[in-house]
Amino acid sequence: MHLTHEEEAVLNGEEGETKQQLMEILVGVGKVFGADEMVQIRSAQVSGASYKTIGEWGLKWLLSLDARACVPSVLNPVGMDRMRWEEMDIDPEFAKKQLAVISAYERLGISLECTCTPYYLNITEYGDHLAWSESSAVSYANSVIGARTNREGGPSALAAAIIGKTPRYGLHLVENRKPELYFRVEGEPQQADASWYGALGYIAGKISGNRIPLFSGIRPGRDQLKNLGAAMAATGAVALYHVQGITPEARVFSFDTSGLEEVVIEANEVSDLFTDEIPDTVAIGCPHCSPEELSFLASLLEGQKITIPVYIFAARNIINREQESVRIIERSGARVFADTCMVVSPALEQYSLIMVNSGKALSYVPTMCGAEAMIGSTRDCIEKACNPQNMRQDSLT
Ligand code: F3S
Repeated sequence: MHLTHEEEAVLNGEEGETKQQLMEILVGVGKVFGADEMVQIRSAQVSGASYKTIGEWGLKWLLSLDARACVPSVLNPVGMDRMRWEEMDIDPEFAKKQLAVISAYERLGISLECTCTPYYLNITEYGDHLAWSESSAVSYANSVIGARTNREGGPSALAAAIIGKTPRYGLHLVENRKPELYFRVEGEPQQADASWYGALGYIAGKISGNRIPLFSGIRPGRDQLKNLGAAMAATGAVALYHVQGITPEARVFSFDTSGLEEVVIEANEVSDLFTDEIPDTVAIGCPHCSPEELSFLASLLEGQKITIPVYIFAARNIINREQESVRIIERSGARVFADTCMVVSPALEQYSLIMVNSGKALSYVPTMCGAEAMIGSTRDCIEKACNPQNMRQDSLT
């Protein structure tokens, strides 16, 4: 792997022990994956931010570091809303540890925008090289924006944030971004809701594994693409996908599908994942809600009262921009939390059947929250949540 004089100097410790250690991580990763050199990154997104996942060892490692990020860098969701954690019934001991993790990252120059939707923060554009780590964010950056990032681990993303570079291999190289599998979707989706695309991704991810799929027969918008990619990254390891006529690199490759394995997915098969049960809570915002999703939720909840708890998750920046929608939503008794989500927070571990509108949450809730999960459209989620027959005594009001 070729290193510049400056990179060699960092590796030799001339800019301090922390940078030396982090450069060793990057060079080690680069050597394992056959990178030829380092590439400058536009931004970083760092996972390993929830105390639930990194624990005491992770916190100690962060506290041992002494350097600052040199490119715009954000955190992945943490275990709680860092301002409203008491409303989430978070154990104060957990909160203390989580706040310590957050302040350790802040000291390293990582912005406390704790979100899996950093693409709403204008820190990337088409063609940028990135070091992002949360799988749905990676999928969106690669597929919907046309930026280039591998799925980084927490330490390698943090190293890239501080060094400002990442090894050039994998999805940083155009030749590795071609489709490897062709999904032909047949039939009409029952609803054009993003949840349907999440369910499609739930199925397609299992078939894809870590291959790059190309879809035809669908016309998703941005929120639908977000849900599709998030689910494929959860049930498979899909970090990039293409949709004919929709995603930017569909224009770059001349898609000759003749050499690709072809799989037909029937729209009915996707709709079969939607069930009609009675959940004990509803969780929306996996990945974190867009401004449009918050405003749609406000339109559904205006003048309503929830009868089971409703948790909605979005980036703090988006919540601040959409205050009127958030006010309307919260008047119904639903809560809009920042910094966290239904999967990384322990808050939802108290429930037994969680209704979501996301294919990724459908996949992760059972293992991460120890609860069963069911998927419904956003409209159905809110209808269930406001149905007096589903009333729970301990609804968030
Ligand atoms: Fe984001 Fe949490 Fe889902 S990190 S993609 S909301 S599991």
